[in-house]
Amino acid sequence: MKRNAAIGLFDSGVGGLSVAVEVYRQLPAESTVYFGDTAHVPYGPRSAGELTRFTKKITDFLQGQGVKYIIAACNTSSSISLPVLRERCKVPMIGLIEPGVAEALGKTVNGRIGVIATEATIRSGAYEQGLKKLGRDIEVYSRAAPRLVPLVEAGRTDTYQVTGALREYLFPLQEAGIDTLILGCTHYPFLARQIAEELGPGVRLVDPASATVRAAKEELCRLDLAISGIRPISHCFYVSSRPDAFRAAAGRFLKKDIGPVRQIDL
Ligand code: DGL
Repeated sequence: MKRNAAIGLFDSGVGGLSVAVEVYRQLPAESTVYFGDTAHVPYGPRSAGELTRFTKKITDFLQGQGVKYIIAACNTSSSISLPVLRERCKVPMIGLIEPGVAEALGKTVNGRIGVIATEATIRSGAYEQGLKKLGRDIEVYSRAAPRLVPLVEAGRTDTYQVTGALREYLFPLQEAGIDTLILGCTHYPFLARQIAEELGPGVRLVDPASATVRAAKEELCRLDLAISGIRPISHCFYVSSRPDAFRAAAGRFLKKDIGPVRQIDL
């Protein structure tokens, strides 16, 4: 595998950009290829069969682009299709669940951990199982938050719909006395300020992205695939639908124009 090849990332839409920014921050010498499956967003209500079918095509596409490593920048795919994808991928691949679990266990003091995520991620039980397996005396309070992804995709983050949805989803977790909340969907870090305001200072937020990219960096170094130093890099973006909407939303979240976004039908 070529060390100067890019790192691939994928998600259903703009959510995975919250992971991409961590890659830009922690691995500034690496090029990236990002795929947003905007023809199929949201992934949350999809079946395991559909998710595996979509993400097989995406990971094949990324490998066709010559990537040396893949980050599943999507909790739904990480919790449902990662084992199948890992088995058939020729390049190493990481998901968000295990790093997110480790980070949350390191942060909680009272052992009460909340998880908000898509319906599919919550149904999979991936976070709950991981937290209970690795932590001692951990109580997990999980809540699907399906209204948030469409609002983030539409860039409607500072709206009464977001406030209303957050109140509804977070209230039972507050009542349960959580001191740590896992943002178990990569779209949610774009609502971190609103979530923090809703929960107040007593609850720590865990965005699994930074721990995941840290783990990816360690793995790249171990495999002698990491690059350092100053060199020309590129960040390419592909989507399966509406490239202009993706570029506009990405520009708002990253506070810069990401350049051309290409549409690919997989
Ligand atoms: N951002 C993805 C995740 O982390 C998918 C959200 C969706 O499309 O429902 O789960």
